[in-house]
Amino acid sequence: MITTSKQKAWSKAIAKPGVEFDRTALSIISGAIPTDLKGTLYRNGPARLSRGEERVGHWFDGDGAILGVRFEDGGGTATYRYVQTQGYLDEEEQDSFIYPNYGMTAKGAFWNNWLKSVKNAGNTSVLALPDRLLALWEGGKPHALDLDNLTTSGIDELSGLTQKQSFSAHPKVDASTGEIFNYGVSAGATTTLNLYRCDRTGKLQHHNSHSLSGLPIIHDFCLAGQYMVFLVSPVRVNLVPVLLGQKSYSDAMEWKPQLGTEILIFNRQTLKSVSRGATDPWFQWHFSNGCVNEEGNIVTEFIRYENFDTNQYLKEVASGCTQTPAKGTLWQLTIDPQTARVIENQQLSNTAGEFPLVAPQNVGKPWRYTYLNVHRYGVTVGEELFNAIASFDRQTHNMAIADMGKNCYPSEPVIVPQKDNPERGWLLTVVYDGNTDRSEVRIYQSDRLFDAPVCRLGLPSVIPPGFHGTWKQD
Ligand SMILES: [Fe+2]
Repeated sequence: MITTSKQKAWSKAIAKPGVEFDRTALSIISGAIPTDLKGTLYRNGPARLSRGEERVGHWFDGDGAILGVRFEDGGGTATYRYVQTQGYLDEEEQDSFIYPNYGMTAKGAFWNNWLKSVKNAGNTSVLALPDRLLALWEGGKPHALDLDNLTTSGIDELSGLTQKQSFSAHPKVDASTGEIFNYGVSAGATTTLNLYRCDRTGKLQHHNSHSLSGLPIIHDFCLAGQYMVFLVSPVRVNLVPVLLGQKSYSDAMEWKPQLGTEILIFNRQTLKSVSRGATDPWFQWHFSNGCVNEEGNIVTEFIRYENFDTNQYLKEVASGCTQTPAKGTLWQLTIDPQTARVIENQQLSNTAGEFPLVAPQNVGKPWRYTYLNVHRYGVTVGEELFNAIASFDRQTHNMAIADMGKNCYPSEPVIVPQKDNPERGWLLTVVYDGNTDRSEVRIYQSDRLFDAPVCRLGLPSVIPPGFHGTWKQD
């Protein structure tokens, strides 16, 4: 990686591949672990962005590694392991990037882009099932890992996925029923949106498929009461240069605002279409949540960008220096489920943010607080990674912010709610401290973000900034 004066402190965290470690007792830097915090925080993210002098083409290309932080008996321990995908193992053996990827074409002759499928990086998120952990990636199947030592046992078919079906990285779990809902997009002569409903053990119970026009990028969906809601942004992959090996998928994506944003609403039990519609063009990676309001309409909240420049910004992250200002903010869309007609489209906050989530008990149901990453005061959007966590109150529209401090970068904040009150709990985030070149776990009280963290625990090695995580309660 070339170093320049414009590089920020976070670039040191991705300059070298993350270093694995076995279960290690964590030292307490400050405070104390809350006595009611018992379970495991799992996080996923691209941990290897280089091999020798080679760099990946995009942040999404890095090989996934899972961090598991366990709290029990008043102490904290952690384990960190790469997901042993076949692509990772092959490239380890050759110590070279050999596969095409989201932001990379295959090495050698162009037909290698046909002969080798895109590497399943296993780097995006995790789903904790009763007997295994799934490392998720948007374009393929999950990998199953041991919940305790994080060793990879292999590709997981969820007892029913066919060879061509993928299982995306943003499944939604209904905490009341335990049901797991997800989708996968398969490209081919036509593009298919596969919808899945699984039981609480991860066993596929029901599947249905729908055709899509062109090849869009669909990173997330939302559960809203009895509905699965998709907002398909006007980005389409031009497959010809990809197949000719001239462009990676990322570079072949075209912003087509004239298509607008397509609204797709499905019944979550039958997985059949309820309605389809269209609205203004925008791009979103992530939803916070959704619900059905008292009038029977769908309310969905997400981070909206005005165009697809966010992909360029994320590509630049892999180089260690970003410059593209891509500002995403919280928006709320209200939709009539029967017609997909937009009733209201409203910006909730002008603060730039990402990685929004809610308490697990609230998924698909009305909720008050959305947790997300934002910037600390004075940061120019586009030049930094997020350096604060926040709680957005949907009743007052107040954004409470916990500033991580100069040169400190938090992961997406994961909420561990109180048993009797899902709107209050502990917020867990993994922070890279560029001042000391170390990573740590911080625990905040969700309704006291202006206070110092209640506990900080040092991690044995640098954890490169990642994407998504989850909490598994004991
Ligand atoms: Fe995501």
